[in-house]
Amino acid sequence: RLMAQNATLRSGVTLVEGISIYKWFIKGWPQVEAFQARPNDLLICTYPKSGTTWLSEILDMIYHDDDMEKFKWDAIFNWVPFLEMKAPDMPNGIKLLAEMPSLRLVKTHLPVQLLLVSFWDQDCKVICVSRNPKDVAVSYYCFYQMAKMHLDPSMMEEFLQNFRAGKVAYGSWYAHLACLPGRLPPQNPQHEVQKIAQFLGKEVAEGKVAKIVHHISFQEMRKNPTANYEPLPSWVMDHSLSSFLWKGGQPRFTGDWKNHFTVAQNERFDKCYKEQMEGSDLCFCMEI
Ligand code: A3P
Repeated sequence: RLMAQNATLRSGVTLVEGISIYKWFIKGWPQVEAFQARPNDLLICTYPKSGTTWLSEILDMIYHDDDMEKFKWDAIFNWVPFLEMKAPDMPNGIKLLAEMPSLRLVKTHLPVQLLLVSFWDQDCKVICVSRNPKDVAVSYYCFYQMAKMHLDPSMMEEFLQNFRAGKVAYGSWYAHLACLPGRLPPQNPQHEVQKIAQFLGKEVAEGKVAKIVHHISFQEMRKNPTANYEPLPSWVMDHSLSSFLWKGGQPRFTGDWKNHFTVAQNERFDKCYKEQMEGSDLCFCMEI
């Protein structure tokens, strides 16, 4: 039965306006297109494996009460619905959002050209997070192996080729960045949490900032099964292959690519990065 389920879930992607989207999600596409945003919805818009879960927890703690217990018993996909998600045994984003009172946090990986006009019409705030693309590529490769929506990613070499060419789910990492203006500042968690709160028009006391920063540390999030998507059945995500937050137990946000890329792969990646980022103000520190 497990093998049959795997075979059906592993259906791969299809193109929507030139962007690779999971075939399963297409079944819910009319509902996604008909989705009506509310003016106080907050949209979390990221390329996969860039820190979406991490950002979601920060935003939820800023926006709602800081009931830490909730993070332990309720899976993240229930309180930050994944807009376009539709697949067997997975929470349906549209349905969850319809039942959710305001203020809603909405997660999407859709690139700007597929984003629903309703969010613009309602003048919703949007927060993006981006991450060193080399680390994104490694993380995505592991995710392709453990999350059964994907076709088998084969070898790292082939996956990197597809990643560079934008032939992975949600398309090109470079195209996804198109909506981000300006140079990325260095990270200081306290400062960034305050900056986000300011953008949302929220006052957050120093004590609460410290609590948020502690809660979203890798060590804390790693301990939390709901942040790790562990409530999903193993035929949807196989945590024995790779855990959602990396199995080594070490933070991987920056620099883990060095343990996975060959010298030649790194050179090809750098060449592609240089070509694609030409003229952009964005700058990622690849050397960490
Ligand atoms: P790795 O697969 O490299 O471990 P997303 O939520 O967008 O799918 O991103 C998941 C990636 O963010 C994972 O990367 C995960 O480990 C990393 N991540 C999430 N929370 C983190 C935290 N608190 N500290 C460091 N990395 C974190």
